[in-house]
Amino acid sequence: ISLKKYNTFGISAKAKFFCQVNTVDDLKAVLRMDEYPEKFIISGGSNMLITQDIAALVVHINIKGKEILSETEDHVILKVMAGENWHQMVLWTLEHGFGGLENMSLIPGNTGTAPIQNIGAYGVELKDTFESCEAMEIATQDIQTFSKADCQFGYRDSYFKNEGKGKYIITSVTFKLSKRNHSLNTSYGAIEQELEKQKVAHPTIKDVSNAVIDIRQSKLPDPAELGNSGSFFKNPVVSKQVFEKFAAHHPHAPFYKVSEEAYKIPAGWLIEQCGFKGKRFGHAGVHKNQALVLVNYDDASGREILDLAHKIIAAVEDKFDIRIIPEVNIIK
Ligand code: EPU
Repeated sequence: ISLKKYNTFGISAKAKFFCQVNTVDDLKAVLRMDEYPEKFIISGGSNMLITQDIAALVVHINIKGKEILSETEDHVILKVMAGENWHQMVLWTLEHGFGGLENMSLIPGNTGTAPIQNIGAYGVELKDTFESCEAMEIATQDIQTFSKADCQFGYRDSYFKNEGKGKYIITSVTFKLSKRNHSLNTSYGAIEQELEKQKVAHPTIKDVSNAVIDIRQSKLPDPAELGNSGSFFKNPVVSKQVFEKFAAHHPHAPFYKVSEEAYKIPAGWLIEQCGFKGKRFGHAGVHKNQALVLVNYDDASGREILDLAHKIIAAVEDKFDIRIIPEVNIIK
């Protein structure tokens, strides 16, 4: 079957074998099917670039459900199953007056994959409200609980992208959300400006979410209309020494200071400076409003997108002596 509708890049790679699992028990049973020794897990498909047909059994995670495990006057502990769409889940929390996820509105993908790369936007990361997650160990089909410390979260990074890579399937994520005295994070410039524009003086969690939705819709392409995987690259984090050399040559470049020793430079800026923004290469291209986003105009192959990514990496390295690396998972 074609995987086109199972990956937000809209790549028409084929799966030789495909199945969908709706419960944790289904997942266990499928992993035990010896007749398909290789399994390939797909969930929201929002952070992958498939570059060829897949010979393994593709397992689509569609496990749904939300459950309030406990609550106090101030907080709620909410468990969400892996196959719940991230944005729909965020809207549900906001409708119930639960705060913490509003800045991460409209991020594509499913809840179960959010911890893998510690998704984040507008000053907030998944780890800020994360309590724990459950994951099935592929080798044993045992469910294990991972605390926040176990997950080793970093910038677009976690245990599941490193030592744990390929070993687990996250089946649920548990969040700690606020019920009152929400600590809003509106310090990100674009949010401040958007709230000002909308003349919102005392924003609610819903106002912040609406501002984020407006910003994202104005900058980022909707995968339903134009295939993409959000930011294709991570923003490079460089040492103070490298940064100072860079800043001396490019005094107007935007940057964020991560610590005394580390600086983050927006990859979108680097890519734009190399002249790629808004350019089309065959069926692939660089988005016109955000150079960090690669797009599939009409049935590009994963290879074509990957070739464009390599061209961009080489150009950025050539011009700035900084190597940018993909954020999306490239399936070879
Ligand atoms: N910039 C450019 N040209 C561009 C894009 C950006 O010059 O084409 C400059 C902007 O002017 C700004 C700076 O780069 O000064 C930062 O841009 P922006 O606020 O759009 O954020 P970003 O660093 O490009 C990151 C995340 C996004 C997230 C936004 C907002 C990464 C890899 N990306 O992008 O995440 O939405 O911040 O928090 O960290 C994603 O991961 O898929 C994603 C969209």
